[in-house]
Order: sequence, then C-alpha cells, then structure tokens
Amino acid sequence: MTENLKTPARYTITAALPYTNGPIHIGHLAGVYVPADIYARYQRLLGKDVAFVCGSDEHGVAISMKAKKEGVTPKDVIDKYHAIIKKSFEDFGISFDNYSRTSAEVHHETASGFFVKLYGQGDFIEETTAQLYDQEANQFLADRFVVGTCPKCGHEEAYGDQCENCGSTLNATDLINPKSTITGAVPTLKETKHWFLPLDRYEDFLKEWILEGHKKDWKPNVYGQCKSWIDDGLKPRAVTRDLDWGIPVPVKGGEGKVLYVWFDAPIGYISSTKEWAAREGKDWEPYWKDENTKLLHFIGKDNIVFHCIIFPSILKAHGDYILPDNVPANEFLNLEGNKLSTSKNWAVWLHEYLDEFPDMQDVLRYTLTANAPETKDNDFTWKDFQARNNNELVAIFGNFINRVVVLTHKYYNGQVPAPGQLSQVDQETLEALSGYPDLISSSIERYRFREASQELMNLARLGNKYLADEEPWKVIKQDEERVKTIMFVALQIATGLAVLSEPFLPFTADKLKQILAMGSSTTETSWAAIGTKDVLLPPDHQINKAELLFRKVEDQEIQAQLDKLEATKKTNEQMNKEVEPQKDTITFDDFSKLDMRVGTIIEAEKMPKAKKLLVLKVDTGLDTRTIVSGIAESFTPEEIVGKKVTVLVNLAPRALRGVESEGMILMTENADGKLVFINPDEDGVDNGFTIN
Ligand code: MF3
Ligand code: ZN
Repeated sequence: MTENLKTPARYTITAALPYTNGPIHIGHLAGVYVPADIYARYQRLLGKDVAFVCGSDEHGVAISMKAKKEGVTPKDVIDKYHAIIKKSFEDFGISFDNYSRTSAEVHHETASGFFVKLYGQGDFIEETTAQLYDQEANQFLADRFVVGTCPKCGHEEAYGDQCENCGSTLNATDLINPKSTITGAVPTLKETKHWFLPLDRYEDFLKEWILEGHKKDWKPNVYGQCKSWIDDGLKPRAVTRDLDWGIPVPVKGGEGKVLYVWFDAPIGYISSTKEWAAREGKDWEPYWKDENTKLLHFIGKDNIVFHCIIFPSILKAHGDYILPDNVPANEFLNLEGNKLSTSKNWAVWLHEYLDEFPDMQDVLRYTLTANAPETKDNDFTWKDFQARNNNELVAIFGNFINRVVVLTHKYYNGQVPAPGQLSQVDQETLEALSGYPDLISSSIERYRFREASQELMNLARLGNKYLADEEPWKVIKQDEERVKTIMFVALQIATGLAVLSEPFLPFTADKLKQILAMGSSTTETSWAAIGTKDVLLPPDHQINKAELLFRKVEDQEIQAQLDKLEATKKTNEQMNKEVEPQKDTITFDDFSKLDMRVGTIIEAEKMPKAKKLLVLKVDTGLDTRTIVSGIAESFTPEEIVGKKVTVLVNLAPRALRGVESEGMILMTENADGKLVFINPDEDGVDNGFTIN
C-alpha cells in the first residue's frame, strides 16, 4: 500500500448523488454529506487541491414512480426537488465545489460517451432474454417497478435490481413472488434485447485490487461486502432498460431504451467535475485520470456494490480512469428507534430543520457527527440533540469562549496581554494544544469523524479546565502579572478552536474568527501551526466583543419535534389500517329490511360502573327510546345532547347491564381512533326520516 503513503497531488471527493424524488433528511446527512464535507473542508484547510463534487440523480425508476404518484411529469419532479435539495445543501454549509444534475447536457454527453466507447471495445454482451412484464401497464418491470422476496436473505420488499436489506444486487427475474409496483399485477415474461456488462470478466481485477490491495485500509463493512460478492461469483448485469425516462441508449438497436440509472449516475461525478472545471477555467482530466489524484467516494451502505464493484469495472473497462482510493461507506441512521423513510415521512427534513432552527446548522452537524453511524446503525433522538447542544456546545465550547473573551475585555479592553514566565501547567497546556491538530488529522484521515469531533470537544474541555484550575478571576486580586499569562494561554486555546472547528462547525468557526479578529493570513489560520510559536494571537492584538456562539435548546422545542413525529406516526397507522374486505353480496330485499331513521339525542348519561357505555334517550320521530351505546370513551354525555344521528330502529332489543337497548346508532372511526357519528346534519332533515 505504498500508494497510501505518498502525498496526493489533489483530491477528488464525491458524495452520492441524491435521488430527486424527495428532499434531503438527516439520514443522508449523517451517512454521506456531513462526513464528506468535513473531509473536504479539512483538506482545503491544509491547502490541498480539492474538487468536491455532487449533483442530483434524476433518472431511474425512483423518479418515474414519484411522478406517477403525484400525477405530474418526471421533469416536474426533478425540477422541484433539485431546487429544494440544492438550496438546503447550500444553506447547511455543505461546501460542494459543484452541484450538478444528471439531466444536464454535459452529463448526457459524458454518459453516452462512456457507453459508446465500451460498446465499441466489445465490452458489452448483447442478449435477448425474457424479462418481467406488466400486461396491465404495458410495461417492462425493472428496478423499483417490481418488488418481491430477496433470494439471498428473504426480505420481502427487495427491488428488481437490489435488496436494500442485505445489499445484494439482483436481476428482476431472481425475485421470488414478484409483483408490479405499478398495478400490483403478477408479472409475465416477455422477450427483449439488452446490453450486459459481464462482471465475471472483472473478477481477477477486483480480487487483486480490492481483496489484496485494500484489505487493510478499507472499512471492514465495505471490504466484507465486497469480498462476499466476489467470493459468490459475479454475473453479467444489464446496463440498459426498457423505460421511457433516462438517457437514450446511443447505439443501433437501442431505440426506445435507456441506460440503467446505475450506469449513468456515478458517471455524474465526472460530469460534475467537468462542469466545475469549465466554470473555473481548469482542466478536469487530472482529477480523474492522474495517478497522483486521491479519489474518494462518500456513500451509504446500500450503495457499496455500485461504487466498489460495478463503477470501478466500468472505469477499468474504459481504460483511462483512476480507481477510488477509498469508499468510506457508512451504516444507516434511524430516527427515534425507527428506520428513516421518505415515503412514510419518517424523517427530519433538512429544509424544515433550517426553517425551524435558523442559524443552528452547526448543532445538527455536530449531533450527526458525534453520533454518526460509522461502524453500526445508530439512532438520532431529539433528546440527544438537545443534550449535545446544551451539555457540550453551550456548556463546554461556548462557555469557554465566552469566559475568555469577556475576561479579555474586562481586564485588558480586548487586547491580548503579553505573557510572563510560563508555569509548568502553562507549558503542559500549550503542549497539549499543539498536539490537537495531529490528533484530529489522524482521526479524519482514517475517516473516523465521530472520534475527531470528540477530540475537538476535548480541546474545549482542556480550555475550561485550565481556566477553572487557574482561576484568573481570583488571582487578579493578588497577582495581576500572572493573570496576563493565564489569559494569553487561554486565548491561544480559543484560537486553536477557531481553526480546528472549521471542518465540523464552519458557521461557528467563522463567528469565532471574527470575534478573535483573526485575519485570513495563513499563520493565523493554519492547521499545523496551532500551538507552535508562530500562530499565537500576538500580544496587543485587539479582539472584538463577545457574541453568543450557541444558545440553549428548550424542552418545548424538543417536545414540538416529538409531537410532529407522533402526528406522522398516527397518520401512517391510519393509512396502514387494513381496509376491511367487502362482505358477501346482499339483495335489495335484504337491504330494505333495515329500518334506519334520522334521530336526535335528547338525553345522555353514563352507565354506572361501565367505562364504555352511555345510556341515551333518542327522539327517532317514531318515539323516544332508550339506546345503550359504547361511545363513552369518545364522548362526554354533555357534548352529544342535541346531536343528530342515524339510528337503526328495527334491531331486536337487547339488555345491556340490565338496561334494554332499543336500536343502534351508526358510527365510524376517525384518523385518531375516535368514534364519530354518521350524522344527517342538513337543514330540513327531520327526525323520523328514513335512510335509503
Ligand atoms: N441516487 C442514489 C441513492 O440515493 C445514489 C447514487 S450515487 C451515484 O441511493 F454514484 F450513482 F451517483
Ligand atoms: Zn436481501
């Protein structure tokens, strides 16, 4: 692995292109975008040449399905979500050098170019095979248009191209009990021609490159998945589809067919780099073709096979491209104990968070990093969010900075004091400070962002402890000279925090640099110089007034978020309630035996010792009769007196708790499980009117 030891000339950092079938949520952020952004910001801080690219993934069945569901065109869908996603990334401080989209012309050209080149080299197999077909919808069923049981793990909702449970790539015809997601129909088979990438031809290459070359430096979860696929034996994969949404197949015989979304999307990283380079007047090619470039793909675990097996095989087949140096895939984040889900609306949506917690980007970034699903799935809870904010960002980081800045103004009108003789504690503290850049670097370089974020917090802890031990506010009364040294040391720690927090807390870092009046010259902001003599905020340097870096998050704010999720849960439960199957057919004569009348409740009282029962007197137009009704958990007697209701009056009387009930009131249940009357509440509808 000599490769990893030499310093790369540049970094090409990619973050998975999000599907534009919904907005971005915290799962995407924690798994992909926050770690990728930390990494990119960090390398830029070190002065490295970085291209950090992303864009919207606008093809594929995910988009077609969303369009069908909303009754709009795929173009409407991608335009809507591309705009929301792009803006929310910007507002959140994800520092892409370029955010493109796969509907862009440069991408269509680049992806088509790849296909044509591989086609010309004879890298595809052209074959007519029987594929799943939905006769009701007149359509082939590929990818998300078909679900069924995964032949590998038994998961019942596996898609036609992938099981998201075990990560296996599948062919639609592998699914057990396949079902069309368009009509629910059981598919038939129909012959069609497609182009296949024979992955089996790349087995030796993949074995050598991954199994031998990256055993040590790739994360165990990534390496393990790759190994099991390679060991299982790779099969040819279709790279074209019979769909009407996507990039047209650019070769003879491809009319009416499009490229498989997972063929075109990763090439989107290259298109995005081209777009960026053209805008910046740079050459894109070294970022993808020079061996001295470090290419990294930040993704979630469901994307591993595409980035480690399929895309590298495509790049290898092409011949001109470098391969990723690492693919630091994360596991999944859950929300309050349940799997995040765009379709079930079980998510904290980024654009909503930004609205509800303005200027608190860093709090979410920090929470998601400190609790990142790096080695196993993890849970986001609002309680944890509040605790991370109140107990760490406010109580440790914010508190330290505030004390340093306020005391500097109080004692020295905001001018950095000149230090005297350093005590042993001072020396040790400055030494510890100078160790932090390497400590944090080493975590980031190994893609351990949680660990890195905790080291950053430890530096703030160091500052707090130093002040608490040295107590400048007490010492000032006896030894003014000593306090100058203490405050000088504390200010150096604050400076260190301003620089080192930038990748993690970019908004806070900016504010802090502004408070400390740090210039942008490299000696003042350089990562490696922290704690060494050159970077010290020099004596006499004038700092600005204190400003709040973080604010407390109150219980009500957390409760409001929990209530919002509770409401989502209720809605989902309601939607999932099985609609009762229709009962056996009856004749009109059967129906006309039911005598239903309009009535009014004129009295109501609780049935003694019965939780559910109310005893009602109902004016049915025929008479006033007693009806015992099981509605006491939904209504108080007072609120229903005077209500118009529908009554089945010829039901055989029945005694309930010794009270004879002479009929039945028709009811249904609302979304919250509360009973509601079927009430004929129209003017001029009088008691005794029949219902038929
Ligand atoms: N859109 C895919 C997803 O959300 C990710 C595509 S990554 C790329 O799972 F490599 F294809 F770009
Ligand atoms: Zn599976």
